[in-house]
Amino acid sequence: MSPMTRRSLVRAGAAGALVAVSAGFPVSPAVARTRPRFTGSPFALGVASGDPSSDGAVLWTRLTTDTLGVDPLPAPRIAVRWEVAEDEGFRRVVRRGVEIADERSAHSVHVELRGLRPHREYWYRFAAGDEVSPVGRTRTAPGFGFGGGADDLAFAVTSCQNYEAGYYAAWRDIAAQDLDVVLHLGDYIYEGAGKSDPPTATTPRRHVGPEITTLFDYRRRLALYRSDPDLLAAHAAHPFVVIWDDHEVDNNYAGLISQDDDPVAVFSARRAAAYQAYYEHMPLRRAQVNRGPNLQLDRTLQYGDLAQFTMLDTRQYRANQACGDGNKEPCGAEWEDPSRTFLGDEQERRVLRSLGRSRARWNVIGNQIPLTAIDQQAGPGQKLYMDGWAGYPVARDRFLQGLEDRKVRNPLVVTGDVHASWACEVNRDVRDPASRATAVELIGTSISSGGDGTDVPSAVLPDNPQVKFQRSRRGWVKVALDRREARAEFRHLPYVTRPDATPKVDAAFTVQDGTPKLQRV
Ligand SMILES: [Fe+2]
Repeated sequence: MSPMTRRSLVRAGAAGALVAVSAGFPVSPAVARTRPRFTGSPFALGVASGDPSSDGAVLWTRLTTDTLGVDPLPAPRIAVRWEVAEDEGFRRVVRRGVEIADERSAHSVHVELRGLRPHREYWYRFAAGDEVSPVGRTRTAPGFGFGGGADDLAFAVTSCQNYEAGYYAAWRDIAAQDLDVVLHLGDYIYEGAGKSDPPTATTPRRHVGPEITTLFDYRRRLALYRSDPDLLAAHAAHPFVVIWDDHEVDNNYAGLISQDDDPVAVFSARRAAAYQAYYEHMPLRRAQVNRGPNLQLDRTLQYGDLAQFTMLDTRQYRANQACGDGNKEPCGAEWEDPSRTFLGDEQERRVLRSLGRSRARWNVIGNQIPLTAIDQQAGPGQKLYMDGWAGYPVARDRFLQGLEDRKVRNPLVVTGDVHASWACEVNRDVRDPASRATAVELIGTSISSGGDGTDVPSAVLPDNPQVKFQRSRRGWVKVALDRREARAEFRHLPYVTRPDATPKVDAAFTVQDGTPKLQRV
């Protein structure tokens, strides 16, 4: 029996409650001397895993006893023990270790696992002092070839979870599903001030404090969201792959330009605080934080030869919105200025290179904001969404041309941002909704943003033959892939302003290998 097993964690009681039988463990003497005593469980934000590889994943937790940030922890540096097992009962422990949770990073812990087996479930937990975390489950990605490959996989497409707008029945549904991975495509938090009035039937929950601008604010807002039990359950059930959109920092910001045109130095500090807090609360690898105050969130995950996930960051490097932002008629030279970038030159090169090298059957592109150019003006005339790809026509054209030149197989774009479900065949020409399809795009509504929603279809559908389905309800999209086809289910909730909604499938589509076309099933 190993030393860790003797001293460590035993399971107590049929309900699975855990207590730690702890003694010393091998960390630095200064930290080991401190045996922290907490005022409550320091695992109030639960556990998470993310960014699976074929031999590992990131494990995450953050020590805090409350979500308001007012109950200080007993030490600036606290040893956190962790272990990984092949079974939920932790009889077959395959990895264990100790990390230091440091107050400089909000007592967060990121463990990067290596050497696990491909396409396998693992269970994990943490302990600090006498306290033991809930158990999380993760799943490694498939590898290539014999023993580690996969012929099918399933994932969730999620985004936009405004806490004030509703409850997270969608996360409860996701937690109960059999999925390989959950993609979160941005607006994990919203930056706005808490409404001053009491909760109402249409906005049942409240943010705490004013609009968030400081590191303290962003940490507290992320902790508030992360304290929701349904979101906690989803994180404990599946590995997540996350990218951000605008509200993790400031509505519709572009690069270092804020919504209210703050001085660049002021907004740079705010953005750096928001980015730091985001990393502290997400199961991301250290490779994502090697850029000073920036985060490199664009990255590629391999799921054997079945799928490659290419995650984009369309916020951090983009040029300012054209034509005054919003839904506008294209405004000529400014809109078409070839120097206006969307991904930034470096990211654009990285992403196209990685897609060009991909040998995957399905190239899933995790994207914040619509690639399909949808005419937003019902009837004569054309308006385009200037915050999305359609507002950056030269960059959009270069990206679509890049996919075609490299013969990228089955680009399957999954997108958040617009708080409604849209199933689209991406029109090649930004000005022509009926132009040929170059990819399929599944826009996955919102977890809660926008409130209950409506079944009334958008008035612009007759202008947009490339759109095959649209519904302004909350929920998520379940996507299943095999070698022959992709299948997408739009799972919608009848309401989010009360917590007990049951989802139903409002539409399902298949996409056949080799054809960027949606077939309703
Ligand atoms: Fe949103």
